[in-house]
Amino acid sequence: MRVGVLTGGGDCPGLNAVIRAVVRKGVKEYDYEFVGFRDGWRGPLEGLTMPLGIDQVRGILPRGGTILGSSRTNPFKLEDGVEQIKANLAAAGVDALIAIGGEDTLGVATKLHDLGVKVVGVPKTIDNDLSGTDFTFGFDTAVNIASEAIDRLHTTAESHHRVLVVEVMGRHAGWIALHAGISGGANVVLIPERPFDIDEVCRYVEARFETKYAVIMVVSEGAVPIAAKDDSGMTLLTGEKDAFGHVRLGGIGERLASEIEARTGKEARAVVLGHVQRGGTPTAFDRWLATRFGLHAIAAVHDGDFGAMVALRGTDIVRVPLSEGTATLKLVSPEEYAEAEVFFG
Ligand code: F6P
Repeated sequence: MRVGVLTGGGDCPGLNAVIRAVVRKGVKEYDYEFVGFRDGWRGPLEGLTMPLGIDQVRGILPRGGTILGSSRTNPFKLEDGVEQIKANLAAAGVDALIAIGGEDTLGVATKLHDLGVKVVGVPKTIDNDLSGTDFTFGFDTAVNIASEAIDRLHTTAESHHRVLVVEVMGRHAGWIALHAGISGGANVVLIPERPFDIDEVCRYVEARFETKYAVIMVVSEGAVPIAAKDDSGMTLLTGEKDAFGHVRLGGIGERLASEIEARTGKEARAVVLGHVQRGGTPTAFDRWLATRFGLHAIAAVHDGDFGAMVALRGTDIVRVPLSEGTATLKLVSPEEYAEAEVFFG
């Protein structure tokens, strides 16, 4: 058996740990051969391959990024994309494919499986917004990076009696903001699921300064004010869209900081953590989760369980249909958000 592996979408810490586990178990227990496809779906689309064996995965467990490269290429945007992929898989002698990605990459995997491609999915995203799994790897690392940044920002905010608005990633879901906000002791957390009221936000700012402390506000890049719920102009930097139709987000932190400064008279600055949250070595939790996902993904290939996605449920790794894993986004519930609200202001 010859198995292809690809990583698609935004990279995240732990991708290399998955690749390593897939290859180590595949070679040792099943005597499989592997081929790496470069840069997400662009690899099978354009026939871009690289050798993938024990030598290539040695030493990569703690490394961030992905040795295979990534892209947001969408083969369904091309008229003959599916045929090209099938032809290139056949040319590389590939019997089965492991696709490691988020909603877009696994959405493509779901459609390809319906069209006869033998594929198993591994969920990844720092946003942690895939419904089929309790957690995705990369999320814990991102939360730790954001949390450490918040710790550092507390002291400088207090020295200068400032509002510091920390913009974190999270396109549709506020998981990073919520977890980092709670663990970092933020005074306000704003998430995409709950459009914010700028008057209320300013009241929190005033109340916090009355206690003689400064304000740390964590905001997801996809958060919007109530009045601008349908006015995406508030959050957009460029209006540019990727192959899956997602606009490039960013800018809400700056907008909030200047609005708060204008309304309250308090000095405010924005800190955008951006891709720092996706870079560098994975935490121990993410290495553990990614490794287990890899081990179970190659086992699914061995069982011929194509169309499956591995998922974490409690502490068990289970298999769910790819279509189920990518069907809906997992969002922060009002109840979970309310837990954080106790600390606002
Ligand atoms: O999909 C994960 C993610 O990190 C989102 O949180 C963010 O909106 C997006 O990727 C950024 O994508 P890019 O690196 O392509 O700008």
